[in-house]
Amino acid sequence: MSEDLKRRAAEAAAAAELRSGMLLGLGTGSTARHFVDIVGARIRAGETYRCVPTSEATRAQAEALAIPLTTLDDIEEIDLTVDGADAFDPALNLVKGGGGALLREKMVAAASKRMVVIADASKAVAQLGAFPLPVEIVRFAHGATARAVRRAFAAAGIACEPRLRRGATGEPSLTDNGNFILDCVNPGIPDPPALALRLGAIPGVVEHGLFIGLCSAVYLAREEGVAVIERKS
Ligand code: 5RP
Repeated sequence: MSEDLKRRAAEAAAAAELRSGMLLGLGTGSTARHFVDIVGARIRAGETYRCVPTSEATRAQAEALAIPLTTLDDIEEIDLTVDGADAFDPALNLVKGGGGALLREKMVAAASKRMVVIADASKAVAQLGAFPLPVEIVRFAHGATARAVRRAFAAAGIACEPRLRRGATGEPSLTDNGNFILDCVNPGIPDPPALALRLGAIPGVVEHGLFIGLCSAVYLAREEGVAVIERKS
């Protein structure tokens, strides 16, 4: 996805969705970065926002832009969250967590009246699955949890190869919450809500990257313009 298209998706969402005074959730990743820049520019221009970042990386960016921050502990509800996604299907189910921030992203999305995704056409899929599903797990007995995750996929009729995410040095990557991530390579997820239930029931799984019923709309940037896809139900 070109930086130009990412920027255009962020600008379209900002133009249509932002109102001065809002409580905002700030997403994570290279697309969400553009939206955070826009919020910073709006604040410099005199608008007011208070924001909850979904990762330490986004917190650092927001602090550098002097964006006022708050926490989920200190508020009842977020007006609007704008985030990227690794993939979305026609029902606006999402795969998220490519950047490792899925737990905080889901907590912030779930606390939001409205959550919108900014993306380009490469993120639109007929069926989730081509992008390996990130699953955040505790470090304790991570091998056993990986086997339980594989069994949960199998029970849903899906072959899955959970791979422990590793950094450049080969060490397991740690999330902002100090956990590991399994990237679950799979051929396709025919029923995302059913798989989400199975994964969420595994002790040792902290959160999975399936976002079901959380996304209200997608701002989809293409060369010919930005389309807005609202969730139907
Ligand atoms: C981070 C995420 C990101 O939103 C997702 O990985 C998309 O990132 P990008 O905009 O860089 O493609 O879920 O955990």
